[in-house]
Amino acid sequence: MKLPIRLSVTLLLAGSLAAGAAAAATPDFAAARAAILAHYAAAAHKADPNFKAFSAAAGRSFFLAHPAGARPATPSCSYCHTTDPRNQGRTRAGKTILPMAISRTPSRFTKLSKVRLWFRRNCQSVYRRACTAQEKGNYITFMASQ
Ligand code: HEC
Repeated sequence: MKLPIRLSVTLLLAGSLAAGAAAAATPDFAAARAAILAHYAAAAHKADPNFKAFSAAAGRSFFLAHPAGARPATPSCSYCHTTDPRNQGRTRAGKTILPMAISRTPSRFTKLSKVRLWFRRNCQSVYRRACTAQEKGNYITFMASQ
């Protein structure tokens, strides 16, 4: 069961090289994001040996969902980040949040400590639990497609 992971990491790295070539100004961002996705792919595989790949479609549903138990002040991820991740978001205090979409904010999901902090905080507010590695990878994969 090692092969699928190696394969997906290889594909991620190949994809990041292609993305880096396309956006010559930000090749480091693509490589850093690929490393974070590889980290979550390894964790997802550990949790479920049948794990194959992340899904942008599942990431989109996760982003738009209004979970039943959400804190009233934070009903969904899209509440702050808006339903179109290419838009700027807004905190409850009214502060601007740069778009989640990587096409708009290329530095997104490139620092593991930042990614961890915000997944921990926002998954608790909206889903009232930690998000799984699969969910985190789906989310980043969706944002990379936007
Ligand atoms: C209460 C408003 C709010 C909600 C709801 C919210 N976020 Fe965020 N999110 C923020 C803010 C503020 C930041 C940090 C500012 C920034 O990165 O531009 C952030 C940053 C992030 C980051 C870090 C991105 C990076 O560049 O590394 C991730 C990941 C993230 N959010 C995921 C989620 C997910 C998943 C949900 C739903 C489960 C969610 N957010 C719901 C406000 C929110």
